[in-house]
Amino acid sequence: MPDIRLPIRTERLVLRRFEASDLDAYHAYHSLPETARFLPGEVKSYTQSMESVGKYANFVFEKEGDWICLAIEAADSPGLLGEVVLKWLPGYGQAEIGWSLAPEARGKGIAAEAARALLNLGFGELRFHRIDAKLDALNLASAALCERLGMRLESTKVERWHYKGRWATEVVYAILAEEWKSRQPD
Ligand SMILES: CC(C)(COP(=O)(O)OP(=O)(O)OC[C@H]1O[C@@H](n2cnc3c(N)ncnc32)[C@H](O)[C@@H]1OP(=O)(O)O)[C@@H](O)C(=O)NCCC(=O)NCCS
Repeated sequence: MPDIRLPIRTERLVLRRFEASDLDAYHAYHSLPETARFLPGEVKSYTQSMESVGKYANFVFEKEGDWICLAIEAADSPGLLGEVVLKWLPGYGQAEIGWSLAPEARGKGIAAEAARALLNLGFGELRFHRIDAKLDALNLASAALCERLGMRLESTKVERWHYKGRWATEVVYAILAEEWKSRQPD
C-alpha cells in the first residue's frame, strides 16, 4: 500500500490523523446513547475513548484487518466534528467504510463530504476494488448517506446481529471502483 498523505482537504473540511487533544471532543459524542445506538459497542467510558483516540492517532495501514481512522475538522474552524474509517477486509481489493459525527455536525452534509474524500482515497491511491458499508436497517441516516454516495443496496439479512438486547437486521451497501470513478466529474 502507498503512504497515505494527510491531511486531506475538501471544500469545507480537513481530514487528518487524530491527536491526543481530540480526546474530550471525541468523548463528548461517543458518550451519548444516540451515537452508540447503531455502533457495535455501548456508550464509551472516558478510558475507552482514550484507548480509541490513542489507537486512531497511531493507526497503521499495511495489511488486511487494519483501519484508517481520520478526524474530521472544519477547514475554517479547528475542532473535532467526527470521524470516518476505512477497514481493509480479507479478500483481494475489499474494504469497508464507516462514519460517526458529533450531533451538532449532523444534517450539514459533512459525513457525505468526508466519506467522498475517503472513497476517493480508497479507490484512488489505495486501489481498492470494492468498498461496502454494513448497517443496522433501522439506521436510516446511514442508509440515506450510502444512497447519497451512490452506493448500491446489495443485501438485507434479517436478524443477522444480536446487540444491545435485540435482534437487528443488517443491510449491506457497496460500490465498485469503476462505479465510483464513473460518478466523478471529469
Ligand atoms: C450516520 C451519520 C454520520 C449521518 O450524518 P448526516 O449528517 O445525516 O449525513 P450527511 O453528511 O449525509 O448529511 C445529510 C444531511 O445534511 C443535509 N445537508 C445540508 N447541507 C448539505 C450539503 N451541503 N450536502 C449534503 N447534505 C447537506 C441533508 O439535507 C441531510 O439532511 P437530513 O438528514 O435532514 O435529510 C450520523 O447520523 C451519525 O453520526 N450517527 C451516529 C453514529 C452512527 O450511527 N454511525 C454509523 C454506524 S453504521
